[in-house]
Amino acid sequence: MKKNQKIAVIGGGLMGHGIALTFARAGHYVAVHDPVPETLQSLPQRVSDSLRLLNTSDTDIAKALSRIELCDGIKATVIDADAVFEAAPEKLELKQAIFAEVEAHASGDAILASNTSVIQITKIMEHLTLRQRALGTHWWNPPHMIPLVEVVKTEWTDPAVADKMIDLLADAGKTPALVEKDVPGFIGNRLQHALWREAISLVENGICSAKAVDDVVKASFGRRLAVLGPLENADLVGLELTQDIHRQVLFDLDARPEPSPVLQSLLDKGRTGMVAGHGFRKWTDEDFERTKSRIAQHLCALERILQENLKHNTGL
Ligand SMILES: NC(=O)c1ccc[n+]([C@@H]2O[C@H](COP(=O)([O-])OP(=O)(O)OC[C@H]3O[C@@H](n4cnc5c(N)ncnc54)[C@H](O)[C@@H]3O)[C@@H](O)[C@H]2O)c1
Repeated sequence: MKKNQKIAVIGGGLMGHGIALTFARAGHYVAVHDPVPETLQSLPQRVSDSLRLLNTSDTDIAKALSRIELCDGIKATVIDADAVFEAAPEKLELKQAIFAEVEAHASGDAILASNTSVIQITKIMEHLTLRQRALGTHWWNPPHMIPLVEVVKTEWTDPAVADKMIDLLADAGKTPALVEKDVPGFIGNRLQHALWREAISLVENGICSAKAVDDVVKASFGRRLAVLGPLENADLVGLELTQDIHRQVLFDLDARPEPSPVLQSLLDKGRTGMVAGHGFRKWTDEDFERTKSRIAQHLCALERILQENLKHNTGL
């Protein structure tokens, strides 16, 4: 993988800072643009804080920061870029306008990637002239701690461009997964929200409490999900058993195509979630910060364990 590539990041918020630090740490030169001056100016400090959380040494933090340039405007950011990552707010018209400007100034062979959570990549890229070099890269939050990046092809994406993006991400330490078709929710959110729909339905139908749902997941299959995917698990227990279980259970699972009415009734009562003090469950003022810190500590510890296991198993 060629180092010292130029990576452009449009939008230096939560996701943009993580994308920038990932490539700067991997030895690339990163240009970042954000129209909000305070956000742009605070980016190096946020990158430094996140790298420190990952136990990065002061020398390596300084090296990464020296590869990040803060830019005024899209033109200066994308000129001569090898790849452009857009991480601006989740609004279709805004993203389309950004890519129109990016295309006007980026070189013809730069890869253009949107980090949209749920907007179809096809919609964002439909007005581009060179649509074959455009795709989605769906990073997960926190972007510097969650390895997955879904690489989403549209019907126009050149497979060689998707391969190049996969190589770039893998070289930067991410775990890319190719999504061949631009479907809502890509892979991860489809799986995650199939689980959330059933979780809400269990509570809605009086089968158990919200706490019981969370306890069951955290104390059982949630524990092994980081090392055993669902299809590996199906192969492990055997496909006959999988088929038998599906015959007995699938017919009774929630399959409604719209959000549960429970969500609207909680929202109507102001029970909007942790920050409001009440969602499915009750929360204190401290719980929000405590929960975020628990997740960060867990992800760091898990990464260390996974790396140690890898070394042990491969003898490296
Ligand atoms: N936060 C998540 O969990 C998450 C996960 C995956 C994907 N995403 C997606 O990533 C994108 C960015 O999300 P985020 O969480 O980083 O949001 P954010 O609000 O933290 O960052 C967005 C940044 O874009 C900037 N911005 C506003 N207008 C802009 C413009 N015209 N050009 C360039 N930048 C502009 C804002 O100033 C802000 O700093 C969204 O599409 C979001 O849906 C978010």
